[in-house]
Amino acid sequence: MLQQIGIRRRQTVLDFGCGSGTYTIAVAKIVDAQGRVYALDKDNEALDELMQKAESAGLKNIKRMETSGKLEIDLADESVDVVLLFDVFHSFYFPQAEDRRRLLGEIYRIMKPAAFISISVWPNLIKPGAEDEIKNADFRLEKEISQTLNHDAKNLEKRSILKFRKARYVRTIVTA
Ligand SMILES: C[S@@+](CC[C@H](N)C(=O)[O-])C[C@H]1O[C@@H](n2cnc3c(N)ncnc32)[C@H](O)[C@@H]1O
Repeated sequence: MLQQIGIRRRQTVLDFGCGSGTYTIAVAKIVDAQGRVYALDKDNEALDELMQKAESAGLKNIKRMETSGKLEIDLADESVDVVLLFDVFHSFYFPQAEDRRRLLGEIYRIMKPAAFISISVWPNLIKPGAEDEIKNADFRLEKEISQTLNHDAKNLEKRSILKFRKARYVRTIVTA
């Protein structure tokens, strides 16, 4: 699934709300030693678990980013190729529309022009209209796939994976 959405060698990926690394480890293997994965979470214990898994797997390309849960992301403008928002961009963690809007603004800022976001969605947790919120933040839906995925490394769940690009950049390509 990660390769199907477009994760490739040498990319820089932000796994926002990575938890204990259900996807981080697999992404780190795909991007390889010349790529990098920023593993961001507010849960210190989950990050400890992730870094232990990384060490056991001999992976040196995962950079731990422990935060207070703030919406600002300590990365430079236009510095990442891919942002993963897996099982985190929904009403449980971000019940306020204003917080979702601010987070999308930060994500937009750190994305390179040709970068994409991938969001895994539980249909019962994402609020109706959330897709419009993402589009209103100047993203364009490029792809939607339905997939059975790991939930918190325990249960398999049917999910939608949405892939968005910066709309402004897509329009530039089309008219160029
Ligand atoms: C349900 S888990 C998903 C973990 C992983 N992405 C996956 O799909 O298996 C959601 C994670 O997002 C983190 N999280 C929620 N809100 C956050 C915030 N504002 N900043 C950083 N991490 C956050 C939680 O601590 C938790 O580890």
